[in-house]
Amino acid sequence: MEEINNSVIFNRGKQYLMNTYSRMPVVFKKADMQYLWDIEGKRYLDFIAGYGCLNVGHSNKYVVNALLKQIPLIIQPSNLYYNLLQVELAEKICRISGFGQKVFFANSGTESIEAAIKLARKYSTDKYGNKRIEIITFNRSFHGRTMGALSATAQEIKQKKFEPLLKGFIYSKFNDIESTKKLISDSTCAIMLEPVQGEGGIYPADKKFMEYLRDACNKNDILLIFDEVQTGFGRTGRMFAYENYGVKPDILVVAKSLGGGMPAGAIISTDKISSSFAPGMHGSTFGGNAASCAAGIAVIDYLLANKIPERVEKLGEYFISELRKIQDRYNIIKEARGIGLMVAMEYLKPVASRIVGDALNDGIILNRVSDYILRFLPPLIITKANIDRVIRWLDRESGIIENENKKD
Ligand SMILES: Cc1ncc(COP(=O)(O)O)c(C=O)c1O
Repeated sequence: MEEINNSVIFNRGKQYLMNTYSRMPVVFKKADMQYLWDIEGKRYLDFIAGYGCLNVGHSNKYVVNALLKQIPLIIQPSNLYYNLLQVELAEKICRISGFGQKVFFANSGTESIEAAIKLARKYSTDKYGNKRIEIITFNRSFHGRTMGALSATAQEIKQKKFEPLLKGFIYSKFNDIESTKKLISDSTCAIMLEPVQGEGGIYPADKKFMEYLRDACNKNDILLIFDEVQTGFGRTGRMFAYENYGVKPDILVVAKSLGGGMPAGAIISTDKISSSFAPGMHGSTFGGNAASCAAGIAVIDYLLANKIPERVEKLGEYFISELRKIQDRYNIIKEARGIGLMVAMEYLKPVASRIVGDALNDGIILNRVSDYILRFLPPLIITKANIDRVIRWLDRESGIIENENKKD
């Protein structure tokens, strides 16, 4: 019988799965909160949390128990009917959002973005006619991979070869009030942004920029859409990143950590805006499935009961301040930046892939968003000791790379 190890499964995966991801040469078999074990039994400390979707940790017991309780009862009641868990989760999300009155459930970030685009267009064209369809998004943004979300994603590299894109998206400079002002017109239906750009390299929006957008949207009845797929559920030291700015959206888009590892996404809006949708206009077969909603309820309860956002604020400040000390020690580092536990370290040399590979060998899971930028999105339940371990490791690794560069 063939031995089951990392490289055997890696090669079988290469044979049978489409080549859409640059996968690391490791296969995980089990996980517990911030730790993962590969198929050969080696343990890893996780600082990417499944692309930021395990804020409450891997297989968090609270989430697992909720699933174990729900799955034998009913998994997929279907959206022909209300289901108790979907209603309960919607109510909870509205409450923690501080503005929401209605929720639509989907299965992923990109599917939720599609729902937000459709809701915004419907609201705008109902009121102002079918010329008012334009959505302003921002350079370096990332909103997903389906055609609407891809059209909203202002990154040529991701869009190239998939044209024609959806009409009606125009791109402005992130954090640039003047360039955005010039693009707002009678055709503008919505402005959509990530309060902290994630895939683009961890760039937080400026407070003044967010305030300007809110004000401009209010004055022109333009909908402000916040894509909090990555920033939501405690990641930035608040339940939602917009709380850092004192600015609320008209439509909030969430996914990733909502499901605690189960597929889940949602948009949240007001009664007034949501009333643009009527039966048959939008839907999702699995959206708001009872199992995903059971997990979602457990996630929110866990975040609140354990005061996770408050914890993240403190740990995040500590992590960034320690990264800045490393930055000060080495010339090859440009900057450490971020908010809460959504953090990046940018190098002046294209060393990010090498660092991620070396870390994996040493039992630490890191992530890169470009050749130069490391991104840290650990589960929000990590400890200070976990941070210290990563800091010590990065300090040593940066020193080794700097010395090698001096010799070249
Ligand atoms: C800000 C943001 N929006 C949307 C998406 C798309 O989410 P999904 O991969 O669940 O479709 C992502 C995924 O990384 C994201 O970071």
